[in-house]
Amino acid sequence: MIFYFSGCGNSQHVAEQLAESLNDKLVFIPEVARNNQYDYTLAEGESLGFVFPVYSWAPPKLVLDFIKKLKIEVPEPVEGPTSPYIYFACTCGDECGHTEKIFRKAVEAKGWMLSACFSLQMPETYIGMPGFKLDTEENAQRKINAANAALSEFIPRLQKKESFSEMIVGGAAWLKSYLVNPGFNRFATDDKKYRSTEVCIHCGRCVEVCPLQNITLEEGRPVWHGNCAICMACYHHCPVNAIQYGKATKGKGQYWFGRRK
Ligand SMILES: Cc1cc2nc3c(=O)[nH]c(=O)nc-3n(C[C@H](O)[C@H](O)[C@H](O)COP(=O)(O)O)c2cc1C
Ligand code: SF4
Ligand code: SF4
Repeated sequence: MIFYFSGCGNSQHVAEQLAESLNDKLVFIPEVARNNQYDYTLAEGESLGFVFPVYSWAPPKLVLDFIKKLKIEVPEPVEGPTSPYIYFACTCGDECGHTEKIFRKAVEAKGWMLSACFSLQMPETYIGMPGFKLDTEENAQRKINAANAALSEFIPRLQKKESFSEMIVGGAAWLKSYLVNPGFNRFATDDKKYRSTEVCIHCGRCVEVCPLQNITLEEGRPVWHGNCAICMACYHHCPVNAIQYGKATKGKGQYWFGRRK
């Protein structure tokens, strides 16, 4: 079973590739939360996978919250280990900081053990602050090609249930993951900065793509309701680029998996 979260399609692509190659089932984390359905039973020998984007040098808060609530039943094995093989794959624009340590701690708090993890650089999606920008079309495609190639190397290792860690940690990781990240979650995830401009054509695309169902249309224009992951899907998918996040997103273009505008 593979639990995944994705705002702009990068992690969804990875999750789909893994599910296809490993012949596994995909479960979208926000849907679990919506249905309040946290109890799952694994078949004997079945692996437990997680796929998500890196948010501010850590797993997204909603992924960590989900793990806290998740209940997994594992059948008593005839022989072999009693714990399932657990792995995660994360996607990032550049680097992950201590994402592995934070995730490992979250699964260990459940009494489980993380066996394998890897990160894949994919096109950048975060542009909610000054200084953050998207990759060029060329660079985005180069990252996707490299990620696909790396993924095809990781899949046989997951099939063999190898223990491994292949993470792009980057510099000043402690500072980023343990000081910047809590500040980001506290002060930079406010959806009050989202607004639509007068070019809005009232199509409702932003409502459809929000994984948290945080947007409704009122008098044809989006209204954000305070339950936001700052995944930026609403911004990137708007067909007329009508959505802005404060002043930070102005003129920065749009991206979702495989498509740069
Ligand atoms: C809120 C937010 C924070 C992010 N923080 C990081 C980060 O700390 N390091 C990094 O390399 N990329 C970061 N990114 C980029 C994403 O991890 C990357 O683009 C990822 O592939 C997006 O996945 P998705 O398309 O499945 O949402 C961030 C993106 C968002 C939206
Ligand atoms: S409101 Fe926008 S940024 Fe927030 S969770 Fe929904 S799609 Fe993502
Ligand atoms: S996606 Fe863009 S154009 Fe469509 S309703 Fe939302 S803001 Fe308006």
